[in-house]
Amino acid sequence: MITEVLTGAAAIAKGAELIRMGEVVAFPTETVYGLGGNALLESSVDKIYKAKGRPADNPLIVHIAEFVDIYPLIAEMSERNYAVAKAFMPGAITILFPKSKLIPDCVTAGLRNVGIRMPAHPIAREFIKKCGVPIAAPSANMSSRISPTEAQHVFDDLNGRIPLIIDGGSSDVGIESTVLDLSGDKPIILRPGAITAAMISEVIGDQVLNHVGEVIAQAPAPGMKYRHYAPKCEMEVVDSIEGLLATYDNALCDNRRAVALIKSGDKDKMGCRSYIELGYSDDEWLHNIYGAMRRAEIDNDLIICIDLSSTDKGKSAMNRVNKASKKV
Ligand code: TXA
Ligand code: MG
Repeated sequence: MITEVLTGAAAIAKGAELIRMGEVVAFPTETVYGLGGNALLESSVDKIYKAKGRPADNPLIVHIAEFVDIYPLIAEMSERNYAVAKAFMPGAITILFPKSKLIPDCVTAGLRNVGIRMPAHPIAREFIKKCGVPIAAPSANMSSRISPTEAQHVFDDLNGRIPLIIDGGSSDVGIESTVLDLSGDKPIILRPGAITAAMISEVIGDQVLNHVGEVIAQAPAPGMKYRHYAPKCEMEVVDSIEGLLATYDNALCDNRRAVALIKSGDKDKMGCRSYIELGYSDDEWLHNIYGAMRRAEIDNDLIICIDLSSTDKGKSAMNRVNKASKKV
């Protein structure tokens, strides 16, 4: 199969046509690129799992263009859940609700809840609206690879496996949406992201359970048990810039090619060592982390990443980095 990469209105029109024919299409969102298919059509959902090589027990998120599109897809909407959904949609959040009968079991991997996301990205919204159906979409990477934040990343993973990539430039946020389970009494964050527990608790009161760095009683999102976000070489996290320099120098002594992922404020301390800047602010760290991992894995044996957990958004970045370094 030839994989086309297109931009602009022609890309959206072609993408929507392919979706109506039951095909799958990669499209940009503000978090990461998604691999979309008709969420109401089992054969289309099957194609998503096949193209990614994704295990069938890992459920897919359903994407919508307008808030009202949520109602046919879910069984009930409480006042609390409405307040949270209204506060953060459109945006970098996926909310789990009890699903309606419209959603095929293969979308939720047999679970009773469905994850709903309304992206803020204008191309994503336009594309979903033109499709005229809700769009099931995981991140558009091969299963267990780093999520794509540029069309080129999607092409690197899925060339020959899907007919079209809609190129919308680089994803603003840079890591996947916060997954928030609102199906029970207590709201639970199953996957941290740019929308933090603190932001949600402001809307909802103090009942949000934040899983970041904590031992939890409930099962995390099923997808979290797979080794995700893996670069092709080894990755290690260090707490301090001194630790980073020592780890780097030790790697060189062992004849291993190393590269450091650093906060931009630390670049003066790097000497002639090889490094990639993640930026100054936590928004920049999120935006840059996956692209940096993809660049770093080329021609290196070891990626050394500075700890970023000084802020809540930094902790969300570390959730992914720790997975890549096999610490979780
Ligand atoms: O930002 C994002 O969320 C991107 C863009 C494309 O929207 N999508 C994304 O999808 O990251 P995916 O499939 O790569 O990750 C979705 C995560 C998985 O860990 C999955 O297990 C969990 O959400 N999830 C989805 N539906 C669920 C459900 N019904 N119950 C529990 N977890 C669910
Ligand atoms: Mg994914």
